[in-house]
Amino acid sequence: MSSLRIGKAKAFSLGLSDIASDKSISHRCAIFSLLSDKTSVVRNYLEAEDTLCTLNIVKSLGAILKSEDGILYITPPSKIIEPPLILDCGNSGTAMRLLMGFLSSVEGFFVLHGDKYLASRPMKRVAKPLRDIGAKIDGRKDGDLSPICIRGSKLKPFDYKSPISSAQVKSALILSALNSQNDAPSFFSEPQISRDHTERMLKGMGVDITYENGKIVIPPTKKPLQPLDITVPADPSSAFFFAVAAAIVPDSKVVLKNVLLNKTRVEAYKILQKMGTKIEFIEKDDKYESIGDIVVEYAPLCAVEVSENISWLIDELPALSIAFACAKGTSRVKNAKELRVKESDRISAVVKNLQLCGIEAKEADDGYDVTGGVLKEAVFNSFGDHRIAMSFAIASLVCGGTIEDTECISTSFPNFTDTLKKIGKVDTILGMRLKGFKKSAE
Ligand code: S3P
Repeated sequence: MSSLRIGKAKAFSLGLSDIASDKSISHRCAIFSLLSDKTSVVRNYLEAEDTLCTLNIVKSLGAILKSEDGILYITPPSKIIEPPLILDCGNSGTAMRLLMGFLSSVEGFFVLHGDKYLASRPMKRVAKPLRDIGAKIDGRKDGDLSPICIRGSKLKPFDYKSPISSAQVKSALILSALNSQNDAPSFFSEPQISRDHTERMLKGMGVDITYENGKIVIPPTKKPLQPLDITVPADPSSAFFFAVAAAIVPDSKVVLKNVLLNKTRVEAYKILQKMGTKIEFIEKDDKYESIGDIVVEYAPLCAVEVSENISWLIDELPALSIAFACAKGTSRVKNAKELRVKESDRISAVVKNLQLCGIEAKEADDGYDVTGGVLKEAVFNSFGDHRIAMSFAIASLVCGGTIEDTECISTSFPNFTDTLKKIGKVDTILGMRLKGFKKSAE
């Protein structure tokens, strides 16, 4: 188990062009390449643990991978191979859920599993609607928990109204429709449109996805699709840690370069802006997605209530909580129950860690309250969750702190520590946990 010790930072001003590539888009590049019969070309694929797991799975399913001058070429097999070994999704809910949709509509037998954190995350949200259209899926707790076993088959078209806004559920169902090659269209709706990379990328591959009366329409589509030719932008969720750093360290400024500006992904920046931070979006490109620079400059923060568009900022809430802790007044998060089933229970993880550094924070069933104050030096627990580890590393820039169990950072942002070193003093403490000395939090 390694830890990070971080010292208080002084005012900084810098441009960052080495933010990790977008995780959601990278997963999709790997999986969607299997829908074509030609080689997909992917620049800036995220080389982090989560997305490398997905790439390995795509390879086990028969794709040939080549990497040259930083460009990834994915050549799909003419027919998906039935892999002799189980498919390891690591820590990634996105990989497991999207692959459930994809594989349940492909001939063969497949087993998906992941790490101990993924093993406790709910899969029924995908298994149930897929079973309703004929999928043969099973797993622990009647198909809710991994390992997940799939016997692929042709599935029926659907008109599914999802009770939750989830891009993972949406993408799993869209993938099943594309593989099943039905003559009738399928329809999907959700309470609020979730991140829409699947729709955008598949449109670029030739699928005529449309929106009709609040529903996504997936028309009968003949495979193979066009291959992808894409440059993955920087991940706005990863960049957000440094936006918060500039927002809480007085007189600081950061320019986050070539970041994905899709409106379903930058809502947290809008909240930070509402709290008082100066933020400017400079759009530079728009092919599959809008891409540009984000300029973030310190200004005193005031409290805010966050209860709308939750699915557009769900991944950034832990980092946003650090801004709440530095703001004047009490901030409140509501309607965010989904936080409880992310890589950790993020409501409990955020509240516990904020309390450790002397900040008043209170849990509710679907959110939490944070009263801004003076943060004190503390030893934080990552709970094995990359976004909790990075959020409290940023908090430590104002109070000094140690974050325990930080290996998880490499699931999404392997060069986070190097980037953080441009702002503050960071020491990595390598440690080994001895048998019998397990932490009680586990
Ligand atoms: C993701 C969707 C979100 C998000 C996750 C990545 C995706 O989850 O939290 O980090 O790539 O589709 P939900 O779709 O479950 O909300």
